[in-house]
This record gives sequence, structure tokens and C-alpha cells, in this order.
Amino acid sequence: KSKEKVQWVCSNCGYSAGQWWGVCRSCNVSGTMKEAKFSDADGVVSGFSVLGDGVGSWLPQQEGELRPLRLAEVNRGLDHQHWRIPLSGPFGDEISRVLGGGFVPGIKNFLAENCEWVVIIGSLTLIGGDPGVGKSTLLLQIAAIIAEGHSDGEASPVVYVSGEESVEQIGNRADRLKIESNIYLYSSNDVEDILKKVQYLSPGALIVDSIQTVYLKGIMGSPGGIMQVKECTSALLRFAKKTNIPVLLIGHVTKSGDIAGPRVLEHIVDVVLYMEVGILLQLSFFEHLVITYASINGEKCSSHRMLRAVKNRFGSTDELGVFEMSHSGLQAVSNASEMFLSEQHLDSEILAGLAVAVIMDGSRTFLIEIQALCLSSSTGSRQVNGIQLNRADMIISVLIKQAGLRLREHAVFLNVVSGLTLTETAGDLAIAAAICSSQVEHIVALLLLFLPCLEIPIPNDIAFIGEIGLGGELRMVHRMDKRVYTVAKLGFRMCIVPKVAEKALGTEGLEKMKVVGCRNLKEIFNLVR
Ligand code: TYD
Ligand code: MG
Repeated sequence: KSKEKVQWVCSNCGYSAGQWWGVCRSCNVSGTMKEAKFSDADGVVSGFSVLGDGVGSWLPQQEGELRPLRLAEVNRGLDHQHWRIPLSGPFGDEISRVLGGGFVPGIKNFLAENCEWVVIIGSLTLIGGDPGVGKSTLLLQIAAIIAEGHSDGEASPVVYVSGEESVEQIGNRADRLKIESNIYLYSSNDVEDILKKVQYLSPGALIVDSIQTVYLKGIMGSPGGIMQVKECTSALLRFAKKTNIPVLLIGHVTKSGDIAGPRVLEHIVDVVLYMEVGILLQLSFFEHLVITYASINGEKCSSHRMLRAVKNRFGSTDELGVFEMSHSGLQAVSNASEMFLSEQHLDSEILAGLAVAVIMDGSRTFLIEIQALCLSSSTGSRQVNGIQLNRADMIISVLIKQAGLRLREHAVFLNVVSGLTLTETAGDLAIAAAICSSQVEHIVALLLLFLPCLEIPIPNDIAFIGEIGLGGELRMVHRMDKRVYTVAKLGFRMCIVPKVAEKALGTEGLEKMKVVGCRNLKEIFNLVR
């Protein structure tokens, strides 16, 4: 008989030690260290499971044995598009975009010669987000579009299991969302019980709301504890793999560091989506190093929800879905590009010191407004909001030196409308244009117009894209074509871009908009004037 080893394991975080501690040395919670017996022979623990070998015995077993396949045997030519369930409607389009072109229920590999299915793996998707952001609503709506079936295949039911709400509550929500699809509802906290019941329905998808409320018997800790969360997720993953039923999992992100939150699960699952109020903008100059978070302020955008893939084994992760929470659930926002433009702007009211910049998040373009206000003042102070002070200082200095603006004796206020933080250098040109528009005390302007102080509004159908160099030259930014086409689609009359970009852009889709290429700030200045 093999020797038994006694270990003390924290039921909260899984920390193990050779001796008992009153307070866990890892998570600092007191009274959680429990005795566990490990037997050397199989590594399995009595009263405790590390990787749940014994725990999974009740899971459906797959017929036949899997064997390693030669690379040549695995048919990689399989059209992946085929295995995506296209989700229909505007809401489905938005979800599909985030998932990289549709929902992937699983991966099927087969032998090239006889086309016999040999490996079927259901996918596991995790949807994380703050409590109350709308995860349950989102998943119920996704359940509905999966259950409605796709254009080519037959409709299959979807099972929605909640450990938080009763079936009546979910039913009420479904009423509110006007969902009448083939959905089964079940309320339970026991993973074993859930999977046993679901298996017989062989649904098109299983939704579990949420991972923090379910538990596995035989695992230490209460639901929501790190051990339970990990083990339950592993069990669901095994279930998905064995039955080929895709599983969608909801996880709350806890406010205080996300110890038991979805973060610890990211490596287990295939796809991780995060739902949030606000927008993430990537810094283009540090690209993958720094990410800033800018919440959308103001009433106009508080009902907007962003859905973003942070991990995706089936597609790219730079896509962003934009939704609006309405009285009847989440609706895809069709005019996401315009969502940061103020109403005045769209109503064609022209204000001095206002210029439109075009920024990108993932492959999505947004138009934002930049405001500038210049006041005569001896101190020449600079106040910026939503723009990096260094960047603003640089642009102002270039305007003084290269465009002859008398900004030294002016206080300059800069502001990005709707509380966003501008991190892309693509906004430089709009910042410069806004300043020029607010303070046009240019030598040339004075000579020509003989006006003491000028404020020249920029027509609200002009957008600016470009980075400014220290010599006042305009530089190219990435995804120029995409930005310009978005501007054209929104009905802008003119778009000002660096000269190099003008040549690279085609004419297709730009018939109604004039694209003006400028080499340097002086040329821009003459245009704005
Ligand atoms: P919920 O999906 O329950 O959030 P989570 O599961 O992430 O905790 O929804 C949260 C909020 O959404 C709730 O405060 C009410 C609001 N809501 C609407 O505005 N319209 C709707 O149609 C629904 C169903 C919810
Ligand atoms: Mg919920």
C-alpha cells in the first residue's frame, strides 16, 4: 500500500503547505486551511481533487479511443467558415464581428481519405464583465439567435442554466426581450446535475450563468472560490469536448482584484469576451505596451456597452462590438462611428475652435470632436483634457514656429468632447486645426483681412487625419483608407490628409467627398483660413 501524505490546503485559494496555518499565507484568509490526504501512488487526493480525475467519471464517455494523428492525416483544408454558425440580424452581425465571423460551436477534424469524423471538440466561451453590465441579457439574446437556427442548418434548442435566478425570472426577462425561441430554462447550482440533465437534450449550446454560482461536489470551498471556479470550468470544458455541445459561460469580474474572477480562467477556455461600459483605446506609439481606459461620460453614451474579444482561438481579437441597452434588451449600434459627435455637430451648428478627428479601436473607426479655446493672457498657460500634455505642447510649439501663430501670449485650453482620451497621433492634425480655428492671428491673415482678432469656424463637414512632425510636416498614420472611407460614408464634404496618403487612396467610394492632401501645416492653415 502506498504511503499517505498529509497536506494542509486552503479552501479559498488552493495554497498548500506541509503544516497548518491559522491564516492562509497566500490569500490571508483565516481558518481556511483544511487537512487533505494525498496518496503517492496516483496523486489523487482523498476528500479533495487537484485535477478532478475521479470527479469526471460521471461525464459522458466517448466511444472509441482517440489516437495521435499524423499531421498529414488531419484535414486542415477544412473550410472553417463552414463551422461557424452565422448569426442573423443586426444584433447577430455585431456578435459575429466580435467572434471573428460567427459562432464556432466546435472544431471537427477528420481523416482526409475516408472523411470519417475522428475528433470533435466543442468550444468553451467565457463572457466576463462587471455585475449589472448586462451579461445575462446578452447571453439570453445570443441563446435566442442560436436557437432560431442558421440559414443552412436545422434549428436546435439552447439550454440556459442559471444559478442566480429562478426560471420564472429568466422567463420574465425573455418576455421583455420578446424572445420566443426554442430555449430550455433550468435553475441549478450543481454542475453534475446540470450536465446530466443537459446531455439528454443534446442542445445546440449550453449557457451557464454564472461560474461563480455553481459548484462541484467533492471539491473544497464554497461556490465562487478559486478551487470551485477552476474545477467547474474544467468540468464544463471536458463536457464540451466529449459531447461537442458548445458551452458559453458567464463570469463576474470582481471589483477588488479578480482573484476568483474570469481572469484565472482565461487560459482554460477557447474564447474570452469582455463586456464593459466604455471604450478601450490603444496607444499607437507604444502599441502593445500601454492600454488606456476611457469611459464614455455624459448621458448620451451611458447606455452603450462594448463587447470585446480578449482571447479567441478561432479568430482575431481586435474587434469591438457596440451595443445600446434599451428597454427591450441590447441593440446593435449601427452608427457607432458617429457616437462621439455631439448633437450640435450633427445639426450643422458651426462653432469656432472645433475640429473632427478620426481615431481607431481595433478595426473600428470613431469620429471625435476636439475643442480649442485661446485667450489672451500673459502667462500663456496650457490646460488639456483628454490629450497628453506633452503632445499638446509639441503641437502648440510647432504651430508657433512653423505656422507663425502667436500662441506664446495666449492661454490655450484643449478638450476632447465626451470624455474620451485621445491617444493616437492621428488626432494631431485635428488638434492643430482646432487651435488655428480658435486663434487665427496669423501674420498673413492680419495682412489680408485687417481684422484685430479672428475666430474662424471650421465647417462641420470637414475631418482631419494625420500626425504632425516637429518640422510642421504631416505624416501618415496606419489604416488611412479605412478612416477616410468611414468619413466619406458619414457624408462629410472634405477630409484633410497627409499628401502621401492622398496618392495611396483610390477614388472608389470617395466620389462625394473631396480628399485634400497637404504637405505641411502652412498648407492646412491656408485651407482653414
Ligand atoms: P443583467 O443582464 O442582469 O446584468 P448582469 O447579468 O451582467 O449582472 O442586466 C443588467 C441591467 O440591464 C439591469 O440593471 C437592467 C438593464 N436592462 C435593461 O435596461 N433593459 C433590458 O431589456 C434588460 C433585460 C435589462
Ligand atoms: Mg446576471
